[in-house]
Amino acid sequence: MTQYKIPVIPGDGIGPEVIAEGRKVIDAAGERFGFDVEWVEFPHGADHYLETGELISEDTLAELSNYEAIYLGSVGDPRITPGVLEKGILLAARFYFDQYVNLRPIKLLEGVWCPIKDKTPADIDFTVVRENTEDFYIGIEVSRTLYSAKFGLDIETDSEEIAYQIGMISKEATRRVMEYSFDLAEDRDKHVSSVDKANVLTDIYGFWREEFGEIASKHPDVKTDYNFVDAITMWFVKNPEWFDVVVTPNMFGDIITDLGAMVQGGLGLAPGGNINPDGTSMFEPIHGSAPKYKGQNKVNPIATIWAGAMLVEQLGEVDAANAIVSSIEQNIIEAKVQTYDMGGSAGTSEVGDDITRILLAD
Ligand code: NAD
Ligand code: IPM
Ligand code: MN
Repeated sequence: MTQYKIPVIPGDGIGPEVIAEGRKVIDAAGERFGFDVEWVEFPHGADHYLETGELISEDTLAELSNYEAIYLGSVGDPRITPGVLEKGILLAARFYFDQYVNLRPIKLLEGVWCPIKDKTPADIDFTVVRENTEDFYIGIEVSRTLYSAKFGLDIETDSEEIAYQIGMISKEATRRVMEYSFDLAEDRDKHVSSVDKANVLTDIYGFWREEFGEIASKHPDVKTDYNFVDAITMWFVKNPEWFDVVVTPNMFGDIITDLGAMVQGGLGLAPGGNINPDGTSMFEPIHGSAPKYKGQNKVNPIATIWAGAMLVEQLGEVDAANAIVSSIEQNIIEAKVQTYDMGGSAGTSEVGDDITRILLAD
């Protein structure tokens, strides 16, 4: 039997509850497809920080780099100033492992209520490829340090009277995420849409747009289009069927994927992967720790279970990944065991149990 060791960081708020269901489903998939998972738990998050003062140390990151894939719930806690945990744990990991692709599928599953009138699963099925290592996310301390170390660059900020953070993109990081997007599109005979704000932030996003043109010219078989970020929010709602692969700078990617999540039925249904194709990747729901629902066994675990499917796919267990997604679809079609956000009254753990039952019954 194949053995996997998977590090898991349940994190804060609803993180531990949704991760428990994700683990349950992956364990069941292992039972059915002949692999066994040893979960290696990491305590990082608000409580650990309050107890020890540690966010996540270089030693822990180095230890985690021995693994191919990490499973993450969410971080963020109202007791702690916004940004401390998010930057100190989540972004620290994304940058440390150089997970330069943030892959966020936007797919409306059969039976899910869609807030856009008359749109069906045939209309909403695309992938956002979010650059995950720079842009306005590097105008911040932790990433500045790590970034500088990696590329030999340094950015200083210094003032008492004003606030500013520097956004920066590099040719190398821009090109690699665009190449990844074109590969994805070529595999599926799809087109690539680029996102920018080159009409105002002319330097940073003018550069992005130029690079996109360059990479596009190397892939003449793939159709492309350019979108300003304000307009793409409108197109996501008006014509979601247009999109196949959407490549975006980091911050716009963050914003448009919460919109994308809603287009696919809500944050409870939206998974994501932070991918380093040659290193350590990390899979998580795109939602946060939703502190107001902490400990209530109330929120939807599907985003996290689906992220778990992406994780086992990364490990090479493609059949298991497909079976997990089919089981999620079956649970939704049966519509008997669903959380409040999907109109049901079941708890988080009941949904996990139901998806497990379907997976093992198949
Ligand atoms: P959030 O995504 O945690 O929650 C926003 C709202 O979305 C919730 O109040 C709830 O109504 C809904 N929602 C989220 N997950 C759901 C689920 N599984 N099922 C049903 N409904 C769900 O966003 P927020 O309130 O802006 O952020 C809370 C904290 O999480 C902050 O500290 C933030 O920084 C952090 N955060 C962390 C991550 C991460 O760890 N990847 C991502 C986003 C936000
Ligand atoms: C996400 C989150 C994170 C981001 C935060 C918590 C750092 O919003 O994963 O979408 O901005 O990337
Ligand atoms: Mn976000």
